[in-house]
Amino acid sequence: MQTLQVALGERSYPIHVGDGLLGSIGQWLPATKSARAIIVTNPTVASHHLTALHGGLTRAGISHDTVLVPDGEAHKDWRALNTIHSRLIELGAERSTMLMALGGGVVGDLAGFAAATYQRGMPLVQLPTTLLAQVDSSVGGKTAINHPLGKNMIGAFYQPCVVVIDTSTLSTLPQRQYVAGLAEVLKYGAACDVSMFSWLESSLELLLARDAQTVARSIAQSCRIKAAIVAGDERETGARAMLNFGHTFGHAIEAATDYDGSWLHGEAVAAGMVMAGELSVRVTGLQSGENLRLRELIKRAGLPIQGPRLETEHYLTLMARDKKVQEGAIRFVLLEALGKACLRSDVSMEDIVAVLAG
Ligand SMILES: NC(=O)c1ccc[n+]([C@@H]2O[C@H](COP(=O)([O-])OP(=O)(O)OC[C@H]3O[C@@H](n4cnc5c(N)ncnc54)[C@H](O)[C@@H]3O)[C@@H](O)[C@H]2O)c1
Ligand SMILES: [Zn+2]
Repeated sequence: MQTLQVALGERSYPIHVGDGLLGSIGQWLPATKSARAIIVTNPTVASHHLTALHGGLTRAGISHDTVLVPDGEAHKDWRALNTIHSRLIELGAERSTMLMALGGGVVGDLAGFAAATYQRGMPLVQLPTTLLAQVDSSVGGKTAINHPLGKNMIGAFYQPCVVVIDTSTLSTLPQRQYVAGLAEVLKYGAACDVSMFSWLESSLELLLARDAQTVARSIAQSCRIKAAIVAGDERETGARAMLNFGHTFGHAIEAATDYDGSWLHGEAVAAGMVMAGELSVRVTGLQSGENLRLRELIKRAGLPIQGPRLETEHYLTLMARDKKVQEGAIRFVLLEALGKACLRSDVSMEDIVAVLAG
């Protein structure tokens, strides 16, 4: 069991990481907790993990209802949001009622936005069940739904009051989803912490075999990095952008395939990190030996090291649409060295095109 802290003044909150925490949920909630909770989840996650959470809440004397939303990114939309709001009203949820998001990033983002907007904000408890949600989306307060014209376009910064990471939930996660989540873990090492990167190089086999201690350590280490960065830059005006390493290319890959699931987010980010590494060699002078280590680790994880073959023009159009574009110039998160990311908006078209051409 480990507890970390996201330091945001009066909006500070703990992140608890441990095995079987859903069953003892009462212990991990804030002292000021309400005696009532509404759980938002989907049928897939519910079938595996709702019983444990129900048991934990019952033991803690917290009454609870459950709202099911359909599974999938396609349902991170206003319809599902409306379903949650309607159920909250029908169930007579009050502003003090806790909203618990039990699931991956889709449930977390959607339920998080519902919590931010219901009666101008109710306490949000993040209970992430995918590796991606445990190391990334449940921490930091970004909540959103998709709009037909763009992903994550409608949302709010809204911090949870606690994040409870029950690592045992990963036992039911399909291997492809698990490995895609690993891409974000590798991202933290590559962009922010070279000693974590070295540790990942030597622990990758254990991580792939889901050795419990190694997985828990990688989650805690990832959350520690994210928590520190969010504490310094909650609204992504500076350092938080470093966490988008690999994401400018990655988002273009996802958009090109219309988020149809042929490329999971983490897979697209993995190929994106390789492309950003190549670009770094050209732009920042990242040593080619370090670039090779990045590429090798991604490859060893079983993640893609090459994006889909697209026309260069297509990539450029998609990247220009990304939220990371500021005043017309595409901003890239590049590496000066392993563990040391930087933001650059002065990258020449020639270098971008060379990297896209592979
Ligand atoms: N808010 C943020 O800061 C942030 C950061 C990164 C990504 N995101 C968002 O996160 C979303 C992606 O999240 P994701 O990768 O977790 O996808 P997801 O939520 O769709 O989960 C992937 C699949 O795994 C299933 N699942 C979840 N937990 C399971 C478990 N323990 N056992 C078996 N199956 C399980 C889900 O039902 C789903 O089918 C995207 O919408 C992305 O925009 C948000
Ligand atoms: Zn990501």
